[in-house]
Amino acid sequence: MQYSEKVMDHFMNPRNVGEIENADGIGTCGNPVCGDLMTFYLRIEPRIEDPNKACISEIRFKTFGCGAAIAVASMASEMVKGKTLSEVTAMSRDDVANELDGLPPIKMHCSNIGVQAIQEAVKDYLKKIGRDDLAGKIKGCPDKKH
Ligand code: FES
Repeated sequence: MQYSEKVMDHFMNPRNVGEIENADGIGTCGNPVCGDLMTFYLRIEPRIEDPNKACISEIRFKTFGCGAAIAVASMASEMVKGKTLSEVTAMSRDDVANELDGLPPIKMHCSNIGVQAIQEAVKDYLKKIGRDDLAGKIKGCPDKKH
C-alpha cells in the first residue's frame, strides 16, 4: 500500500492532538468493521443570530485508529480551523482525502469517520445551544454503538 508524503507527514507529526477542557462540542465516530474510533473537541466562536456562521476557533482530537486515521484526523483538524459550521458540515471524506493527495481505496472509510466525528461535534454544540432544529439536519456518524 502506497501512502502519499502528506499522509506520512501527518501520521508522523500529527497536528492538534489532545483534548479541550470544557469543549463547546465533542463528537465521536467509529467504524464497526475495523473497530477504530476518533473523537474531536471543538471551541466555537458563537454567532447567536446565525449559528451556522459560528466559527471553529480551536480543535483537538484523539484517535484509537490506524495510521491513515491519524493522518486524516490531523489534516481534517487543520482544514476546519477558522471555518464556519455550515462550511464544516458541507465537507466530505473526499475533501480530506484529496487534501492528503489521496488515500488507498480500502482506507477511504478512515476519512469518512474523521469527517463524521467532526460533524458529530458540531451537532453536539448545536444541541447544547438549543438548536436541535439545525443539529437534526446534519448527518453525523451513522454508527452510534461506540
Ligand atoms: Fe479503520 Fe483506518 S482501518 S479507521
